[in-house]
Amino acid sequence: MGEATAQIAAGKPETNFLCCEVHTPGVGALLKRIEEQNLVNIRILQHDAVEVIDHMLAPGVLAGIHIFFPDPWHKKKHNKRRLIQAPLIAKLAARLKPGGYLHCATDWQPYAVQILEVLSAEPMLANTSPDGFAPRPDYRPLTKFENRGIKLGHGVWDVVFERRFQLESSQLKSPRPPEEG
Ligand SMILES: C[S@@+](CC[C@H](N)C(=O)[O-])C[C@H]1O[C@@H](n2cnc3c(N)ncnc32)[C@H](O)[C@@H]1O
Repeated sequence: MGEATAQIAAGKPETNFLCCEVHTPGVGALLKRIEEQNLVNIRILQHDAVEVIDHMLAPGVLAGIHIFFPDPWHKKKHNKRRLIQAPLIAKLAARLKPGGYLHCATDWQPYAVQILEVLSAEPMLANTSPDGFAPRPDYRPLTKFENRGIKLGHGVWDVVFERRFQLESSQLKSPRPPEEG
């Protein structure tokens, strides 16, 4: 309902945020917070984020991407519908500036493992954390929802990768064969 987004935008007034949400009450709740807190650095697109990525964002334009608590459904049959899959991550990585970051957070451990695997397999991205999962960055606030989960003993996993400045030849998907002679 925009709680985290409003807090993050308030804490980074020099950064402009483009927010994607399809759920009308969520958009309304964030609009209310924007007015109450006089925020001037948020734009909302009430549209499918996947279409926004495909049709509205040029390569290399984003300084960072936040995907917090996507896909709340936990059934195995829904795994294929999860947002964070290799083709989408490749498109997102291409829209980051070199050095830009992709930050995902989830409270569902099997999904956290999938996110780590998918991001690790993307050649344009490098993990910022040698341990795999990252400590929660200060800018991501603990929401009421997350606090309740922590009190019930549930975990939350953060994954933060950066867009590489340059690909090394070993990271290219189809490296050129070595020249002979
Ligand atoms: C569990 S909520 C998490 C909300 C928020 N990120 C947070 O941390 O509190 C997931 C939200 O993602 C939205 N959503 C899911 N798929 C989307 C998509 N493809 N495009 C835009 N919004 C989407 C849903 O409408 C829902 O409000």
